Amino acid sequence: MAILKIAKMGHPVLRQPAEAVDDPTTPEIQALLDDMLATMIDAEGAGLAAPQVYVPKRVVIFVAPLSKDEGIEEQEDALTTLINPTIEPLSDEIELDWEGCLSVPGLHGLVPRFNHIRYSGIDQNGAPIEREATGFHARVTQHECDHLDGILYPQRMANLADLIFDSEYRHYIAAQKTEEEKA
Ligand code: NI
Repeated sequence: MAILKIAKMGHPVLRQPAEAVDDPTTPEIQALLDDMLATMIDAEGAGLAAPQVYVPKRVVIFVAPLSKDEGIEEQEDALTTLINPTIEPLSDEIELDWEGCLSVPGLHGLVPRFNHIRYSGIDQNGAPIEREATGFHARVTQHECDHLDGILYPQRMANLADLIFDSEYRHYIAAQKTEEEKA
């Protein structure tokens, strides 16, 4: 297992569509998945897409709380490995929330995303995955899958006035969220 370098906004690998994976069980893909997990944990990210580690393949991993109706007993953080994903919105409802990206270091942005989606693909063993997701789970899935189409979150933003430095996010947004939680 190796910790890989992460491509940053502007590198061509982040701007191009990634290629489908024919067989996820090959040693190359299994090693890629191991390295992506080590890299995501080291960078303290919630998700990572293969193009972010310079591999233009349709592979993403992310950690999100899966809800009870997704076959998990209690709401808990679970690692999802998703290969050749497709996403279908299940409602027109759009939610705005803050996102960061390991390829866009130092910034946070307010990004509109579908609140309720269905996604499908295959896992690391080639078994089919089909899930419904809402909230953060839906958001992280859309963010990671956008990487496979060469899209970074600032391209999804409605208002670039809401693209701000992490230091200001901590001062003004995270602090406000804490106040709201107290209220
Ligand atoms: Ni990202």
